[in-house]
Amino acid sequence: MTASPRQPAPRSDERLSSPRHILLTGGSSGIGFQAVQRLLDAGHRLTVLCRDGAAADRLGGRLSTPICDLSDLTSVERCAEALLTAAEPIDSLVLNAGLQYSGAREPRWSAQGFELTIAVNHLAHQVLVERLLPLLLLGTAPRLVVTSSEVHDPSTAGGRVGQPAGLGDLSGLRQGPGGAMVNGGPFNAEKAYKDSKLCNLLMARDVERRLREQGQSLPVLAWSPGLVIPRSSGGFFRDSRRQNPFGQALFALVARDLLRLTETPQRAGALLAGLATSSPPDPVGLQYWSNRVLGPGRLRFDVSEPSAEARSDDLARELWALTGRG
Ligand SMILES: NC(=O)c1ccc[n+]([C@@H]2O[C@H](COP(=O)([O-])OP(=O)(O)OC[C@H]3O[C@@H](n4cnc5c(N)ncnc54)[C@H](OP(=O)(O)O)[C@@H]3O)[C@@H](O)[C@H]2O)c1
Repeated sequence: MTASPRQPAPRSDERLSSPRHILLTGGSSGIGFQAVQRLLDAGHRLTVLCRDGAAADRLGGRLSTPICDLSDLTSVERCAEALLTAAEPIDSLVLNAGLQYSGAREPRWSAQGFELTIAVNHLAHQVLVERLLPLLLLGTAPRLVVTSSEVHDPSTAGGRVGQPAGLGDLSGLRQGPGGAMVNGGPFNAEKAYKDSKLCNLLMARDVERRLREQGQSLPVLAWSPGLVIPRSSGGFFRDSRRQNPFGQALFALVARDLLRLTETPQRAGALLAGLATSSPPDPVGLQYWSNRVLGPGRLRFDVSEPSAEARSDDLARELWALTGRG
């Protein structure tokens, strides 16, 4: 009897270009919505976690749309439980949902009483990453993608405007529900957003380290899409526009139309779709990709260094210990 020839193991780029199961948050609007359309057209199978039925309806029937309201940890846990029961491996886990409500004077609260920005942008994603990790590790050439923002970094143009990101001693988080800011300070909506994006990077850092130290490797791609101001009335600046319609209109006119410092939702969506599938082809460890402005109408997407605070292993461990499940 002759032995059948062994099939050579598929190269990683082949594994990445074949249809993947991609699970996203924040796929019902803006950058994520654009990414979803591209990924569907490329033949990937998508699960998009949606806040409610209306968001799911906007996405149509070509994909799976479990309900997961990120402002309610009970809804997040319920959704994670259902996904674990279905036990379908995830090839790419994309944590992209996010909100800000710049200009607001008063904090808004999640169902469990956490400030809404940190609750949706960080706490819900922390639960998802921990709960869904077993399914991700069963995936083919698995990767984790986390959408952050350059405003997490006080040395960047966006990060310099207003109060800078900074988590202090995490005393606001330690307080639990009712803490308006992670550092225990008075509420500031812009800083709350920057802090949440810093938390995204620290979470990405710690999940990669934890797995590496357990002898398992998972590529983790954190990224910043640049400034994306859609022309529609919806999207990322919808809440901020309600607070300050004139200021936001002026900001859009100057940044997008005069100085041309912005990225289009379509191109940002293409960058996200690339990170979820094939670009970079063979990532190792943690990488931070940033879509940096070089000049009017000129952006470059490449590997960057996040802020010093985002590179702190100690802070990443402490944040995980406080907001993680264990
Ligand atoms: N736009 C920018 O200039 C910019 C710059 C840097 C980083 N980012 C980051 O890029 C990511 C995507 O932003 P975008 O510009 O595409 O904004 P967007 O159009 O407002 O999309 C945000 C997404 O998050 C979802 N989301 C918000 N709250 C949720 C909740 N409670 N439960 C479930 N889903 C929820 C939204 O769902 P609904 O459709 O139901 O609202 C939507 O799908 C965010 O993480 C943001 O921080 C954006």
